[in-house]
Amino acid sequence: MILVTGGAGFIGSSLVRHLLRTLDEPVVNLDKLTYAGNLQNLASVWADRRHVFVHGDIADGALIAGVFAEHQPRAVLNLAAESHVDRSIRDPDSFVQTNVVGTFRLLETAHAYWAALPRERQDRFRFLQVSTDEVYGSLDSAAPPASESSPYAPNSPYAASKAAADHLVRSFHRTYGLPVVTTNCSNNYGPYQFPEKLIPLAIHRALAGEAIPVYGDGGNVRDWLYVDDHCEAIARVLAGGRPGETYNIGATNEVANIALVKLLCGILDEERPRRDGASYAQQITFVTDRPGHDRRYALDAGKIGRELGWTPRESFATGLRKTVRWYLDDQDWVKNVTTGAYRDWIARQYGASADHPQGDHSGRRNGNAALSAHQGRI
Ligand SMILES: NC(=O)c1ccc[n+]([C@@H]2O[C@H](COP(=O)([O-])OP(=O)(O)OC[C@H]3O[C@@H](n4cnc5c(N)ncnc54)[C@H](O)[C@@H]3O)[C@@H](O)[C@H]2O)c1
Repeated sequence: MILVTGGAGFIGSSLVRHLLRTLDEPVVNLDKLTYAGNLQNLASVWADRRHVFVHGDIADGALIAGVFAEHQPRAVLNLAAESHVDRSIRDPDSFVQTNVVGTFRLLETAHAYWAALPRERQDRFRFLQVSTDEVYGSLDSAAPPASESSPYAPNSPYAASKAAADHLVRSFHRTYGLPVVTTNCSNNYGPYQFPEKLIPLAIHRALAGEAIPVYGDGGNVRDWLYVDDHCEAIARVLAGGRPGETYNIGATNEVANIALVKLLCGILDEERPRRDGASYAQQITFVTDRPGHDRRYALDAGKIGRELGWTPRESFATGLRKTVRWYLDDQDWVKNVTTGAYRDWIARQYGASADHPQGDHSGRRNGNAALSAHQGRI
């Protein structure tokens, strides 16, 4: 049994699908269902008996302890987070609550559970923290990509909250011996990404005939990785990563934002030409830069290649086209997300279901009673 947190989000849902496809093992998926959690992302595995969905908050120690006691996981993969930098600038509080306090509670509960396991199960247990390249801060254009030994220098409240969580994870290994591994990944793209993030936002705005906003001069550089490659890398680190170590995950694929948006417009011009025959690139609009906007992220992912044999499968050209096609083909998903209808996807899909937590986003602290009430397996 593997416990995944944040498994109704963009990367988490891809990871849950990946684990169920590649391992013969049940997955408990614990998610608070914030605005970013979408059960429709899990439609393809919802009928799989090995997938157990639990509605809850990683900061709810009693609930988490109940999940550990009931499901006896051999690993925790922590993806639950507030993840959008712009939101962290407007509302840093929720980032500290989930990313720092939540990760701490999860660690604390995992530690208590792990400490009581027999030795042989202790040795096999893993707490895998999914983190970001943003903790390394902004790189000059000539600087080498960040490696696992680069210093942390987070600049946004989001990056700072993830950095704080990573330090707590490290401390639980050094202090208590909890077998942790941390992964720091570059920007992900692919299907099911909430359309507040650059790629789905640009696609959505382009198709809606609206301005496609690009921050500042568009010269900010990100290192892009296809989401399924990230999930495969996480699975590799889970299987073979050394406790106490961190692994960078990236595709050595640095692209300036403006170049990326132009690429997207070019693909859309081919796949879904505008009625007037003009390019979607005409809709690109430069907007006031984000405060403290990091100029460049780049990752040296040599270690995971050398130690665990992982390399990305997807090229940027194929991954980007696949992603655009998915958004074009799955307009139902896009419509449900943009209208907010994804909030009651389960009710509409399966009829009102008493054992499902629709609409309850409180993350109440009421232990096992809440656990069973919040457990929806279909
Ligand atoms: N998106 C990227 O490019 C990227 C890159 C590197 C690392 N990461 C990390 O990967 C993880 C997943 O990112 P994502 O893009 O899928 O994010 P996302 O915002 O799409 O999903 C986050 C999920 O976590 C859930 N969640 C939020 N607070 C919670 C809480 N307190 N308890 C339980 N669940 C909670 C949400 O409901 C949502 O389903 C995050 O930890 C993020 O920092 C993301």
